[in-house]
Amino acid sequence: MRRPLFVALAIAIASWPARAQQDSAARGERDFRACAPCHLLSPDRNMTGPSLANLWGRKAGSLPSFDRYSDALKASGIIWDDRSLDAWLTDPERTVPDNEMPFEGIKDARVRADLLAFLKEATKPGAAPERTAENRMNGMGGMMGGMMGGTAPNLKNLAPARHVTGITHCRDTYRVTTGDGKTRHFWDRNLRLKTDSSEDGPQSGAPAIVPAGMLGDRADVIFAAPEEISKAIEARC
Ligand code: HEC
Repeated sequence: MRRPLFVALAIAIASWPARAQQDSAARGERDFRACAPCHLLSPDRNMTGPSLANLWGRKAGSLPSFDRYSDALKASGIIWDDRSLDAWLTDPERTVPDNEMPFEGIKDARVRADLLAFLKEATKPGAAPERTAENRMNGMGGMMGGMMGGTAPNLKNLAPARHVTGITHCRDTYRVTTGDGKTRHFWDRNLRLKTDSSEDGPQSGAPAIVPAGMLGDRADVIFAAPEEISKAIEARC
């Protein structure tokens, strides 16, 4: 007689841990915003920090496509798992002295548990990165991207207003002409010349201009390679 109720109760109890885990991962996805300026979740896409794809079971400091590991992290002998990641995220400097991750750590154990629940799923081989935090960050558009220095847009297919067709330099002023025919001038301390050699960087010979800062007086011109920079700038008054 009581069986249906019992079964329903049994199912509810059995699915409770799964539900709790999902909630935790959802909170963890939000907590990942603290990491997203520096880390992507898709394989071999590195920013300030290495890609976190396939993190569990990986030796610390071992991603071949990342060239900027500290000697300390490479020599740490850590294999990333639930425990070692929890220690690293609690206090990176204590876990690996002299590492170069500019992050002070997360003291709240629940926040760490949520973040790890999210990361464990999102870093699995083949986990769809488009459904994870990094794309939400991208969706926040240029302002946040510029402010937080991460998740830059792809510069291969540029709108004419972003495509630099000429740069002149005279005294303390750069004049930058773009594909829409407009020319803007910049105090030379306010124009930063950068390179991006990744697959998101500009095409060779087609540098991009990207607004920087909040006031509109600064910009980055991004080239495909350093040797393009001085060739692209004409000294002319
Ligand atoms: C300001 C940039 C920055 C932020 C923010 C940041 N990281 Fe890092 N992270 C780095 C850098 C740089 C390294 C490499 C450190 C080294 O080599 O000493 C690194 C390394 C790591 C590693 C080791 C990866 C490997 O291949 O061994 C993990 C794991 C990691 N970060 C996770 C996180 C998580 C999770 C967060 C957010 C809670 C975070 N990081 C926040 C820059 C950052």
